Amino acid sequence: MGRFTAAGHANSGRMSSVARGRTHAMAIDVKTPAELEGMRTSCRFAASVLEFIAPHIRPGVTTGELDELCHRYIVDAGAYPAPLHYRGFPRSVCISVNEVVCHGIPGPRELVDGDILNIDVTTIVDGWFGDTSEMFTVGTPSRVAAQLIADTRAAMWAGIACVAAGARIGDIGAAIADFARSRGYGVVEDFCGHGIGREMHMEPQVPHVGERGRGPRLRAGMTFTIEPMLNLGSPHCDILDDGWTAVSRDRQLSAQTEHTVLVGEAGYEVLTLRESAWRPAGTRV
Ligand code: MF3
Ligand code: CO
Ligand code: CO
Repeated sequence: MGRFTAAGHANSGRMSSVARGRTHAMAIDVKTPAELEGMRTSCRFAASVLEFIAPHIRPGVTTGELDELCHRYIVDAGAYPAPLHYRGFPRSVCISVNEVVCHGIPGPRELVDGDILNIDVTTIVDGWFGDTSEMFTVGTPSRVAAQLIADTRAAMWAGIACVAAGARIGDIGAAIADFARSRGYGVVEDFCGHGIGREMHMEPQVPHVGERGRGPRLRAGMTFTIEPMLNLGSPHCDILDDGWTAVSRDRQLSAQTEHTVLVGEAGYEVLTLRESAWRPAGTRV
């Protein structure tokens, strides 16, 4: 997710090819039907990486091994893992275990019974980016951990449910934060969802807290991610000395899930939805 900065956009600051050149803020892409087909393909592929990796998650496997498996699956399909070498990130996916909030670097850490982890996959297919992440458990998680994961998915979907032409970005964060805080969680504010298309991180920023009726208005054809991070304790994060790994300041558990969504005239399309993913009862795939 983009790192939130008051100065504006966290990312490279490059305008997208269809940005309109407003000086006070970068424009948000509205994609054509042909461009949306590119997004659908890349997002479907990103989701397939999560399906692929799930059966490999077990006690004793290292996060580095999971990264290598994802890397090979992605490149064998002719796609590219966007995190690899992104601003110096050394691996192909982010894997965030337990107290790691996001941007965990895969490595020698061996998973043990009771761990919870997020695997965050961003792929490039024919120049289009797709971004999605999921929570997994190793062996038997604690009740508190399992509830945190269930509530994180539900919080993400509370945000997704707000997406439709005419709504505002602030509606999404308000719905997520209301849901999560009513259950006692800390909602991480240091990282946001983001527009996505020909680049991984584009306008707009999509905060996971907010005020209804505020922020950019959504228009049909916009694509962005919704990727809330919920902490068992305080919402504050520290960044470890590797410059990437964000951990909860109190080192309590954190969970995150992410989808890439498309704004429709009368609702939303979840571009990274896959058959096995949790979704609220009655939600169409
Ligand atoms: N996939 C992350 C997101 O949701 C970004 C990963 S960039 C990396 O925005 F460099 F940290 F890998
Ligand atoms: Co993202
Ligand atoms: Co991501």
